[in-house]
Amino acid sequence: MEQHNIFGERGALAELQRRAREAAEHAYAPYSGFRVGASLLLANGAVVTGTNVENSSYGLTICAERSAMVRAVSEYGPGVRVLGIAVANLSNAASPPCGACRQVLSEFTTSDAWISFPGSEEEVVLPFAELFPFQFDLTRSK
Ligand code: THU
Repeated sequence: MEQHNIFGERGALAELQRRAREAAEHAYAPYSGFRVGASLLLANGAVVTGTNVENSSYGLTICAERSAMVRAVSEYGPGVRVLGIAVANLSNAASPPCGACRQVLSEFTTSDAWISFPGSEEEVVLPFAELFPFQFDLTRSK
């Protein structure tokens, strides 16, 4: 089945990437120095961003992607749907979302959501379902 690609819409991908990079400027990353930004295009047309916020206890660090997701739900409520995701970092390094972030994002992504993130050679742009094909879904686990 042909998937609708929200990034095919004029300027949508470039704008989302720009917003992710801008968000990375706000990172609180004194321990790793790795500054990450994420932006989410919601079905209501809003773009919500997040950055990584580290903690002295390390394990309490929250990634940029989850921080954006938590912000989107906080601002727009539990019905938010994510159509597009962009991730950026200020280190010119690959940064696909970690496993925990994939699972959290998948709770709110539409079946035809797309994602963009820095790969080791170039920007990777693909359907979210290709990045994370097996979501843990309690409603299907009975
Ligand atoms: N980080 C993210 O923000 N997103 C990810 O998907 C992976 C890692 C952050 C967490 C930490 O502050 C820094 O990158 C180094 O791991």
